[in-house]
Amino acid sequence: MLNAAWTVSLLVAAARAVPTDWVDPFIGTTNGGHVFPGATLPFGSVKSVADCTGNENQGGFVWDDSLITGISPLHDDGTGGSPSLGQFKVFPQICPGSFDTCKLSDTSRAQPRRRGTEKAHPGYFGITLGNGLELETTVTAHVALHRFTFHGFDTSQPHKPPSIVRRQQEEDDELPPPENEDVPPENEDTETPPTRPPGHAIPPLGSGTKTSSTPAAPATPTPPPPQPSAVILFDLTQDLAHSYQGAGSMRFSKTSEPGVVRVSGTGQFVPSFGANYYRVHFCLDVPGVKKFAKYSMGMNPELVNATGESERVGNSNSGALFEIDPKYLHERGNTIQTRIGVSWKNEKQACAFAEDEIPNGRWNHWSDFEVVRSKGREAWDELLNVVEVDTTGVDNDFIVNFWSSMYRSYIAPTNITGDHELWDSNEPYWDSFYCIWDSFRTVHPLYAITARTAQAEIIRALIDIWRNRGWLPDCRMSLAPGWTQGGSDADSLLADSFVKNITKDIDWNAGLRSMITDATITPGYWDVEGRSAIERRKQLGYVPVDDDTPGGLVTRSASKTLEYAFNDFGIALVADAFGLEETAKEYYNASNDWINLWNPKTESAGFTGFIQPRYMNGSWKDVDPRHCSPVLGHFDCFLNYNGGEFYEASSWEYSFFMPHDMAKGVELMGGKDTFNKRLEAFFENGYHDIGDEPGFLVCFLYNYGGRPDMTVDRVLKVLNAFYFPGPAGVPGNDDSGAMGAFVVFSSFGFFPVAGESVYLISVPLFPKITFRDPDQGTTAQIITHGFDGAKKNKYVQRARLNGKELLRNWFAHDELFGIGGTLEFWVGEKPSLWGTTDEDLPPSMSTGGKFLGMLEGAGSQARAFTSMEHKSDKGPGHHYPR
Ligand SMILES: *[C@@H]1O[C@H](CO)[C@@H](O)[C@H](O)[C@H]1NC(C)=O
Ligand SMILES: *[C@@H]1O[C@H](CO)[C@@H](O)[C@H](O)[C@H]1NC(C)=O
Ligand SMILES: *[C@@H]1O[C@H](CO)[C@@H](O)[C@H](O)[C@H]1NC(C)=O
Ligand SMILES: *[C@@H]1O[C@H](CO)[C@@H](O)[C@H](O)[C@H]1NC(C)=O
Ligand SMILES: *[C@@H]1O[C@H](CO)[C@@H](O)[C@H](O)[C@H]1NC(C)=O
Repeated sequence: MLNAAWTVSLLVAAARAVPTDWVDPFIGTTNGGHVFPGATLPFGSVKSVADCTGNENQGGFVWDDSLITGISPLHDDGTGGSPSLGQFKVFPQICPGSFDTCKLSDTSRAQPRRRGTEKAHPGYFGITLGNGLELETTVTAHVALHRFTFHGFDTSQPHKPPSIVRRQQEEDDELPPPENEDVPPENEDTETPPTRPPGHAIPPLGSGTKTSSTPAAPATPTPPPPQPSAVILFDLTQDLAHSYQGAGSMRFSKTSEPGVVRVSGTGQFVPSFGANYYRVHFCLDVPGVKKFAKYSMGMNPELVNATGESERVGNSNSGALFEIDPKYLHERGNTIQTRIGVSWKNEKQACAFAEDEIPNGRWNHWSDFEVVRSKGREAWDELLNVVEVDTTGVDNDFIVNFWSSMYRSYIAPTNITGDHELWDSNEPYWDSFYCIWDSFRTVHPLYAITARTAQAEIIRALIDIWRNRGWLPDCRMSLAPGWTQGGSDADSLLADSFVKNITKDIDWNAGLRSMITDATITPGYWDVEGRSAIERRKQLGYVPVDDDTPGGLVTRSASKTLEYAFNDFGIALVADAFGLEETAKEYYNASNDWINLWNPKTESAGFTGFIQPRYMNGSWKDVDPRHCSPVLGHFDCFLNYNGGEFYEASSWEYSFFMPHDMAKGVELMGGKDTFNKRLEAFFENGYHDIGDEPGFLVCFLYNYGGRPDMTVDRVLKVLNAFYFPGPAGVPGNDDSGAMGAFVVFSSFGFFPVAGESVYLISVPLFPKITFRDPDQGTTAQIITHGFDGAKKNKYVQRARLNGKELLRNWFAHDELFGIGGTLEFWVGEKPSLWGTTDEDLPPSMSTGGKFLGMLEGAGSQARAFTSMEHKSDKGPGHHYPR
């Protein structure tokens, strides 16, 4: 599985000290991970990578043999659905003659890659094509820089006929060798950027007298054979899903920089997992241009002038071609750099981003690229350094997997504050919530510890979406409303941040109102926000199979009931902190609804009692509890009309989902022993689906059965079997880092019950972990005595929290992270009695779990609650008929 390139990068990493040295962005780029492995900053708007043809190109690039069609500046990370974004591709090619010999459509111009030339680290991506052209990219927040190297392109002998074959052979000596041979380390130190490209590509200065100017028209009537030209193609319309809507534009203009031609404009496309369409804007600068043209399929490319006038583009296969002056290329060792700014607001903003973030005069030389690249890397190290791990006794593979997983947790959502025209607001705007159903379980709880400023902005952005659209979203991407997957899990996301004391500039009063809106007011189109079946559920205590609420897709009744119940619990916690006793009571009560779907008679694999769907008339619909699990109808349960009553997981798995009242679940299943046995059967019989988010928390549930040792065994088994540092090392869609954050928490040795303040303890996989809160200046530490890489000594024997014995197999957020603190473990070879008695179990509602929310005193952020004022009837477009 691991080829030489991977091994070498591991060895290089071992000698280094900063987190990004350990990051391998290619993990999860095949086998369904759909990870975006390209260049981006933390939460960056622009995510630049080479796009591939093929089925698994949701994240743009795929680790397989599919072809490459260009580098594009916008992507989402780890998503399912149809591939997202990928428009505005820039692609170098050598055209054998004039522009009409260039290959235009993405399929006709697509090139194979040279295996073994893939290179990536945070903020950088590079690859070499089969034709010898090398593509590299680096970024700032809203701008991508490209570096294209026309290896072997002969700029000195204009009359030599093109000989692609010969060129290719020459390059074979110069380029990194193919797979399975030693490859030079991917990242040379970039501290001192080289002032010019590596020597091999630079023709001797002064060589060739015919390179210096545009060749004059031949005087003789017999023209020489056509001269191949180095061309940069810009593809306006072909996003990954081919969703161009016709309403775009292009404008060619000159800038203050000599020889630079700018093409800027707009495209209109369809969101990959959502309603309506979206518009996005670009501004591309190309230097060294000899001549340029626009193209539209079905017509010959047409030379144009830089008139500065915007032209509408209707043809869905359109773009621009720039021929690069051979002299310009020659002077730069056959490299050329282009710069593209992208804005969700307008074209002018796209150009402003380009010039502000990578200024004129500082973007089109080799060293400029290196400066941007090293700044990007520094930004990542600054973010990742919030966590420090002592790696003594930890395998290199594991360290790579850990830091790569950490890295992937901060790629999305994206911060596009100020860069949209959806509505007038001074609040932050974040996009690519893709989807909260996935990310609320791990990604946002991780931010609640490691990126609290970002998380506060995210909460404000979500509340502002409620303010302006009327409801909280589950999914949003490309400024468009996305399809809701299950419950209104933004409620649990908000509750999670609230109980973890995230307050910075947040109007929590509005926050609570937004949650209550979800629970009480049915949107006109609940497929994209809020909840369905609100009235029916109120009457029946569950969402019925045959719900008749108009406004969307009627499926998922059982899993929605479970999620709404847990979402309501989050509302109750926040209302409680505000001192709204009646409201809290109402929502605590509603959070018991899941019990109404507990069918004590349903049997599977020797266990009785499962969550089953019910009709309005009260009768049950029998669903095989294994249905939707890997052993039965695994791919039947998505967002479609016959998707069934459980979304993306089986009744077996959902029957463990009552996080706020696991004690009640354990009781219904027949007590702790049966519960633990049932968990074992669930995993061993193959009903568990680690490739989907509901499969996370269930690995840690043995703690509720008083068997934290079994949690340790299970978590280690899952990590070892399904997560590893290779392209296939993520077992399902990474979903904006949801899987990555699962690995991160598992490595910390505790897992969040997202939406509550509770962390379930497993065992740390580093001897010492330090968390710094850069805002508060506080530090939390987890120290594990007797650590041996969790090889033999993997069971907790004893624990101490801030100097006091900790007998519980869980702790609350504030106990360790509130003002900082120290959690110590002593580990040994045999399971101990630690964390096994009833008093040691994590809190549950039915057993009076007062720690589900914040500890005493932290409720101070909740001021008087102002009366409900629902704004959903204001503002444009709350209805999105399909
Ligand atoms: C471009 O400008 C030249 C010189 O002014 C003119 O001859 C030519 O027709 C123009 N081409 C287009 C496509 O406007
Ligand atoms: C988000 O973007 C805005 C505008 O650029 C910036 O002020 C803010 O600091 C960013 N937030 C984070 C967490 O980086
Ligand atoms: C609790 O919820 C049930 C429906 O699940 C309802 O019948 C009952 O009246 C509620 N009780 C209170 C006190 O709100
Ligand atoms: C309840 O409704 C379902 C679906 O319409 C139907 O199949 C079932 O027979 C009904 N049960 C009773 C007891 O009427
Ligand atoms: C909550 O945060 C505020 C300020 O951000 C701080 O003053 C307070 O001590 C925190 N409370 C707890 C329990 O950590």
